[in-house]
Amino acid sequence: MYFGTDYYPEHWVYPYAGTPEEPESRWPRDAELMVAAGINVVRMGEFAWGLYEPEEGKFNFDWMARAMDVMANAGLQIMLGTPTAAPPIWLARKHPDILPLDENGLPMHEGTRKAYCMNSSVYWDYCKKIITQLANALGKHPQLIAWQIDNGLGGHDTESSFNEETRRDWHAWLQAKYETVERLNEFMGTRFWTQIVSRFEDVPMPMKAPTVYNPALLLDWMRFSSDTIVAFVKMQADLLHELAPGIPVTNNLRALTRCFDHFDVADALDFVGVDSNATIKTKSAENACGMDMLRSLKKSNIKTPGDDGGFWVVEQKANNVNWQEVNSLVRPGVVRLFTYQAVSRGATGMLYFLWRQARIGSEKFYGGVLTHDGRGENRVYKEISHIGDEIKLLGPILQGTKVAAETCILFSHENEWAMQHGPQPNRYFNQREHIQLFYNALHDRNIPVDFARPTEDLSKYKLVIAPSLKLLAGGEADLLKLYVQNGGTLVSTFHTGLVDEHHIAPDNGYPHDLTDLFGMEVLEFDPLPPGEENHLTFKGAFPTSHLHPAKLWCDLIEPKECQILATYAKDFYAGRPSLTMNTFGLGKAIYIGTMSHQHFYYDLIVWLRQLCNLFPLLKVPDTVEVSLRQKDDTRIYFLLNHQNSPVRIQFYKPMHDFLTGTVLQGNYDLPPHGVLVLDERIPQKPEPAPSEA
Ligand code: GAL
Repeated sequence: MYFGTDYYPEHWVYPYAGTPEEPESRWPRDAELMVAAGINVVRMGEFAWGLYEPEEGKFNFDWMARAMDVMANAGLQIMLGTPTAAPPIWLARKHPDILPLDENGLPMHEGTRKAYCMNSSVYWDYCKKIITQLANALGKHPQLIAWQIDNGLGGHDTESSFNEETRRDWHAWLQAKYETVERLNEFMGTRFWTQIVSRFEDVPMPMKAPTVYNPALLLDWMRFSSDTIVAFVKMQADLLHELAPGIPVTNNLRALTRCFDHFDVADALDFVGVDSNATIKTKSAENACGMDMLRSLKKSNIKTPGDDGGFWVVEQKANNVNWQEVNSLVRPGVVRLFTYQAVSRGATGMLYFLWRQARIGSEKFYGGVLTHDGRGENRVYKEISHIGDEIKLLGPILQGTKVAAETCILFSHENEWAMQHGPQPNRYFNQREHIQLFYNALHDRNIPVDFARPTEDLSKYKLVIAPSLKLLAGGEADLLKLYVQNGGTLVSTFHTGLVDEHHIAPDNGYPHDLTDLFGMEVLEFDPLPPGEENHLTFKGAFPTSHLHPAKLWCDLIEPKECQILATYAKDFYAGRPSLTMNTFGLGKAIYIGTMSHQHFYYDLIVWLRQLCNLFPLLKVPDTVEVSLRQKDDTRIYFLLNHQNSPVRIQFYKPMHDFLTGTVLQGNYDLPPHGVLVLDERIPQKPEPAPSEA
């Protein structure tokens, strides 16, 4: 297990630390305090370009080499960032064309980070130069174990730019996709408002315009912008692989919040790295969902340092942030709680942002492991040191363990873009909230969940939930059918199959290409404003605990072969099906034509659990989060109390508390924000006796 922090040695030289005679003399003290806290890895250098290359072509990596040596002498391992997220001022001065233009065609200026257009070939060239120099100068350092590319891709409207070079790349991208202008016109449906083009060069970028662009064009624009980011990542990864073979490459991604395809980016990386703000959010299931999404981005070809598998949290906030209206302190115990949440969901590296509160710059009141005084006597340092002690104990037993899920939620960025851009049937519908309703119900019953794109092999899952796949490509629909045909249980919902991959609506019924799978057809749909509700009347097959509303959207379903599980209670479609189930091949296809409140999803999961033979990991009170990492002979359960009050757990059989070495049986009070790690040996089947010759 890697346990670390994000360190900026450039912040800690004279006059901010050290002395005029020994400007870097603070570094060894930092390394010493890190080691005392159990830290074994530091990330450095992701914004250091302006110091590496203070003038064009004049490189200086000596200071970082010295910082690396100081860390190495203390036994710390190192992750280095490529510094491309913060180009030096001289570069923008010399080549203002690298600055990204916004949708009004106005430049976003230099003087901060991220001011670059990812389509700029000039910028690419400078990036290649600095990365080559960096890898040649520092890439063979014996303590270097990973690279981080750039920093926190996307965000702050930096995913798209509208430069002339972007326009050229956009047209080349369209040409590669459609090959002929006729095909582009046909698939993009440009005869709508007759925006037909006769040359690829005439296709607009979706800049500020009087009214809406064709959603098919917007969808392609999102795909193109995402491919641009992926190409930028790949360019860096390929270069690093060539110059420093064997050192894995990652980035610090957010839980699928940026406007690019996170699965594609993860494909270009060796392992997934994560930025986590968990400590400042209160909703544990949302954080858990984010971690499960991020873990799921890469399910094979994972290459982490030490070959531990899983993913790394490259930036776990150690205390308060600085970008909210009010930046309260993170309460005692909460950093530990969320550290364990990430570890329990598969993290094999945990680095805290940031080592010490900077004395300079815009993040100076951002909470760090150390406070400004750097003494190491502060609350957070002590807390992290305590976690460090535990992680040292846990590391060996966690080695080789994995999270295994039998339930999967489908997620596709293309689908989300189709729901976000252009006019929508119901602007109040939010796909993430919809996913969260399903996720909460699984999470609160301690059923592990993976996420997957609809194009992945789903055969290992007993239950697949596919909330609102508005955009459904023909191939995706076929894979869903195959999954059910072979015995899987699929749950889909309203807002599914309304358009294909070209954003063309079907003429043979919704959900597009799946009416046979569900044994029904959606004839019309009725989006409802917030506050207006229909109700579900159940037909008996589905046990319910409450009166369940139908909100935001009601599909009007024409049943064919399907069984009707519930109907609507009122309006002109009273008595029409709202919830159906169809047997298809060896499996079952369930369709939910509306959105309901959280209790409905709890009931749904109780029913599905029986239908699919899914078992909760442990039986504990609802407020305790449980997750499991396992390998052949060991199970490690993590029990997390997200409440600010103790929770009583009853252990019916003795369980071994790994951190204290005690055996728990009967009543146990898990303290507020408390964590339990329970290990269990799995009895192995005896080896079959060798047969006699
Ligand atoms: C991260 C970024 C860090 C820091 C932090 C502040 O996304 O990588 O450098 O700025 O946000 O929240």
